[in-house]
Amino acid sequence: MYDHKIAAADKPALYRDLAAALEALVEGEPDAVANMANAAALIFETLPDLNWAGFYRNVGGELVLGPFQGRAACIRIPFGKGVCGTAAATQQVQRIDDVHAFPGHIACDAASNSELVVPIVRDGKPLAVLDLDSPLTARFDGEDEAGCVRLGEILARAI
Ligand code: SME
Repeated sequence: MYDHKIAAADKPALYRDLAAALEALVEGEPDAVANMANAAALIFETLPDLNWAGFYRNVGGELVLGPFQGRAACIRIPFGKGVCGTAAATQQVQRIDDVHAFPGHIACDAASNSELVVPIVRDGKPLAVLDLDSPLTARFDGEDEAGCVRLGEILARAI
């Protein structure tokens, strides 16, 4: 059992500690499922006010549910659909303050109000997206986005 005690005083420090913990967890481990599973658990345990944290993987040009923490979720998302499919298709982070205002948002958990989706890209190819959902409106700010982009960079070498 790994016990990462992360209680940083400010958000940049929190994300620095989280990135260091993630680096340590994936170090030397080539199995993508294991690394995504541990990443989802670490992120869900560390970041406050999340109701879902996990991955959708690019399987033959379609997003398919990967390891996650939270309620059971929709399994397949076409590229370009919803927040996750938009992040995968555009390779751009989607930081959505109010998911109900996002055209085509896919409501997996009615409790979700805001969402941050980070594309995980290696050699120009979208491998997966990291998806975080919150019951709070506008839960994610620019510091969360920068911190999660860093996590995505670590994961791009680990999945
Ligand atoms: N809301 C996402 C679907 C995935 S769930 O949030 C886990 C979307 O619109 O892509």
